[in-house]
Amino acid sequence: MKRIKTLSEYFKKYELSEKDPEKFWSEIAYSFIWKKKWDNVLESDFENADFKWFKNAQLNITENIFERNLSERGDKTAIIWEPNDPKESPIYMSYKELYKQTCTFSNALKSKGIKKGDRVIIYMPMVPEAAIAMLACARVGAVHSVVFAGFSAASLADRINDCEAKMVLTSDGNFRGNKTIPVKDVVDEALEKCSSIESVIVLERTKQNINIKDGRDFWWHECIEDESNICDSEVMDSEDLLFILYTSGSTGKPKGVVHSSAGYMVYSSYTFLNVFQYDEEDIYWCTADVGWITGHSYIVYGPLLCGATTVMFEGVPTYPNVSRFWDIVDKYKINQFYTAPTAIRALQAHGLEPLKNNSLDSLKVIGSVGEPINEEAWHWYHDNVGKGKCPLVDTWWQTETGGIMISALAGITPNKPAHASLPLPGIMPVIVDADGNELNGNNVQGNLCIKSPWPSIIRTTYGDHERCINTYFSNYKGMYFTGDGVKRDHDGYLRILGRVDDVINVSGHRMGTAEVENAINEHEDVIESAVVGYPHDIKGEGIYAYVIVGTKLNDDKIKDEIINVVRKVIGPIAKPDKIQIVSGLPKTRSGKIMRRILRKVASNDFQNLGDTSTLLNPDIVTEIIDGAII
Ligand code: WTA
Repeated sequence: MKRIKTLSEYFKKYELSEKDPEKFWSEIAYSFIWKKKWDNVLESDFENADFKWFKNAQLNITENIFERNLSERGDKTAIIWEPNDPKESPIYMSYKELYKQTCTFSNALKSKGIKKGDRVIIYMPMVPEAAIAMLACARVGAVHSVVFAGFSAASLADRINDCEAKMVLTSDGNFRGNKTIPVKDVVDEALEKCSSIESVIVLERTKQNINIKDGRDFWWHECIEDESNICDSEVMDSEDLLFILYTSGSTGKPKGVVHSSAGYMVYSSYTFLNVFQYDEEDIYWCTADVGWITGHSYIVYGPLLCGATTVMFEGVPTYPNVSRFWDIVDKYKINQFYTAPTAIRALQAHGLEPLKNNSLDSLKVIGSVGEPINEEAWHWYHDNVGKGKCPLVDTWWQTETGGIMISALAGITPNKPAHASLPLPGIMPVIVDADGNELNGNNVQGNLCIKSPWPSIIRTTYGDHERCINTYFSNYKGMYFTGDGVKRDHDGYLRILGRVDDVINVSGHRMGTAEVENAINEHEDVIESAVVGYPHDIKGEGIYAYVIVGTKLNDDKIKDEIINVVRKVIGPIAKPDKIQIVSGLPKTRSGKIMRRILRKVASNDFQNLGDTSTLLNPDIVTEIIDGAII
């Protein structure tokens, strides 16, 4: 695959992708190994959310990671693993070794009865085996669904049940900073509510005591003991499912976003190579967790498809101290560093002291993902981490898009602080107003839609295609609706403004307000609740909950209990930052909560509350303002 090297080449490619997308994408697709070539590059139907890329072709994504790379890069390091504890030894795993371990574990999966199409849940720490688990599933044609290991037993059970998974891959425990998390206990608790799971494979990591259920639970090291390290890859149709990844939306429970084999392979690798401008000898590090889409596309699949060296970090940025990220950059001489604004802001809060013993000279490119990066954080990151010399790629994309959609190409597209900048070739963003009119030209602001399909566009929401159509393809006819607001400035550069729906972005993680409300409402004393986001210095957005309770408990006690319920139902990442106990919620005459008012109050913006005369209970607004937690 050839990389774009100049701005004029970018514009040329963009033009081609607009005029003849099939030619554009097939030229890229030719660089992969296909077991059978496609009949048609693209069949697309926005109305029914039906997209077929490289129709009727056959492939296996792992063949394109291994067999395609091995002759040239067999001894090259594929994964560098940095453990939670810096005193523990890192692992350097070559492509050859990763291949062998993937094949061995693929055979172990088969021995446990896993076949093409079966769903396998991965609930693991950030260790090489997590990547091996994903790749082994892909090798045998099983559909993986990675669940971030910070989610609660209830959330894990929901995901297992939604996709009727047959197997869980997990560990005894996880190390995270100075904590040890008993993940196997969480799995045991979840499985009490799941009937589809036939087996659990447990990686030994923390060596803590766990419960092993005979006939259901097996140790990872025992499963691979007698397996061969040769395993032919399963034949996958282009549109066969590669993975499901659950993500929060504005309504209901998290939905299983489905990505298919060929399109995802082509798009994740193309975008990795071009956005980060990866060179053969570079060491690349993305700090995400494989539980999120960023970990899928830009720790595992994108880099490995390109034969890159990708770093996996088990720990957290603050352990054993706040220099950890910068120590790792120097230790491995990282060339491309990709992280989230929330991490930047958290580290920025510690000043420059933690950076003073680090050279960071190896860095060539720095990247940002997951939420809008504010100008202050942008400059701090650019000046102090990138030393003013590294291009900063602010990459906008989503679980549903599979790969980066709007971003500078490092060192090619001129940088503009806090702007994701320009769409990648093949991506046609449009800005629409509330009525669906396209707002052309510069200096316009509205909702962000994409009007032509790209190879890794969401294929469906698992088990409920109607939901996929309704969420993404019915707001605006003939377009994919992102849920984000955007502005095109006077230079034509795009600036993402954040969600326009009821999704809150907390530290780069998506949370549905309805999902958090449902969790709060599980407390027996809660009568009703309403959750909104508010600006938070470190997290980007914080969670503000207004709760009506019928209890004799004092406010502090009930607030603690509510936080515990949310931890239990969703996980610690969803716990409200602020809880205000109220006697009522502002409602319209039709009974709808007027969230606009709640958002303003939570944001400490008591002016311009707008028209409150249509409220059923206008007096409540004064009470809410008086009791606001600032
Ligand atoms: C937000 C993460 C501004 C956005 C890859 C999107 C961003 C949601 C950026 C998707 C960015 C992601 N600038 N906002 N560079 N990147 N977002 O599915 O609101 O976890 O809709 O995917 O994060 O979050 P998700």
